[in-house]
Amino acid sequence: MKRKNGKQAMATRERIKKGFSKLLKEEKLKLIANYFENPGEVINLLKSYWHPDSKQQQLFDEFSENTITNFYIPYGISPNVTINGKDYIVPMVIEESSVVAAASAAAKFWGERGGFHAEVIDVRKVGQVHFGWGGDKGKLLELFPEIEKRLLADTDAMTEKMRKRGGGILGMRLIDYSTQIPDYYQIRVEFNTGDAMGANFINSALEQFGHSLQDFFAERNDLHEELRKVEIIMTILSNNTPDCRVKVWVECPVEQLDGIDEHLSGAEYAKKFKKAVDIAHIDVDRATTHNKGIYNGIDAVVIATGNDFRAVEAAGHTFASRNGRYESLSNVTLENGIFHFELEVPMALGTVGGLTSLHPLAKKTLELLGNPTAKELMMIAATMGLANNFSAVRSLTTKGIQAGHMKMHLNNILNQLNANEEDKKKAREYFKDKTVSFAGVEQYLDSLKK
Ligand code: MEV
Repeated sequence: MKRKNGKQAMATRERIKKGFSKLLKEEKLKLIANYFENPGEVINLLKSYWHPDSKQQQLFDEFSENTITNFYIPYGISPNVTINGKDYIVPMVIEESSVVAAASAAAKFWGERGGFHAEVIDVRKVGQVHFGWGGDKGKLLELFPEIEKRLLADTDAMTEKMRKRGGGILGMRLIDYSTQIPDYYQIRVEFNTGDAMGANFINSALEQFGHSLQDFFAERNDLHEELRKVEIIMTILSNNTPDCRVKVWVECPVEQLDGIDEHLSGAEYAKKFKKAVDIAHIDVDRATTHNKGIYNGIDAVVIATGNDFRAVEAAGHTFASRNGRYESLSNVTLENGIFHFELEVPMALGTVGGLTSLHPLAKKTLELLGNPTAKELMMIAATMGLANNFSAVRSLTTKGIQAGHMKMHLNNILNQLNANEEDKKKAREYFKDKTVSFAGVEQYLDSLKK
């Protein structure tokens, strides 16, 4: 479908720029379709992705602004995942070919070697009140115990439910940044948000902290008038969650890696695999790709459960840089003939609240996973990260990833070239032992026509 050019397109562009958000959905759709040479066709295409049940569609429309249609991404299943002796069927939402297959292959491989082992290290999350105060920092330190009491008292009602569920505010401290930015201080607050991701809970508490901090100083008649004012610069949770962290690992005697590489023994292969992971510890270009492969698995579960994958990734990449250099999140040790492959990642997830209960498919994912707690879900998502990492490094260090990748990619190319079912079948057979390329497939389909 071609976009219009010239004056017509300019006119449409001008209309889209002004007050687009105030238009009705149908009007927005029409306006966008007008950008193309064949608006009718575009409208039909975009509408064909609407949910047939208008109530369901309305739910999606209300998730985000200016929605005109839905964007489909495959929802796949990794069927045999054993974590701490428990079997899971894991839904994965991802568009990239081979990720679900790779995760499933690793899950099967490790299922036959004791499965995945996982533990949650901690679940502490952080929020920040960034503020400015012009007084003496010694005085601020002296007042801080009183400030803390006031902030906790003012959020008492707000945190009551969370406290009953075992969560709440764990503590806070004052950080002095005034040598770097004049008069700037921060209150760093730690939270436990139980089974909720907790963004709303944390941000609401922090906003109240901001108001209470201002009230606290405004009421201090013993201070000079100028010092009764506090500038609340901003209050927001931190997506850096190193203390909301999970560890997952697999291990086996090196002999159980026999057969992965036809030219190497299990012991030799274990060393090669370790080298590939070690490279991602010393070389940032490799580390980025290596960790991307980990997030192929993690994000797919995070999305399938309606959680915030941007938050999970941001925390992960910060954690990967904790030693002053961006490094692999996974690690291999070889001791006493045991191959041990481990991943430790921060992971702020929820299994209640937010999209987890609103999105019908997120809800189904959680049901399929046996309605896990947030801690259990952290272990499941991290496991799929390690599973994908294992498969990727295994492929890279043996036959290369293109063989598996291109087989899946062949389907995409065939679809792109509008091949019919019979030609697709012939092409899959033909390319079984050949390198797949767009040009090659195109040529092959042409040869069939002749
Ligand atoms: C592709 O999505 C992911 C890999 O590049 C990861 C890796 O190189 O480890 C295969």
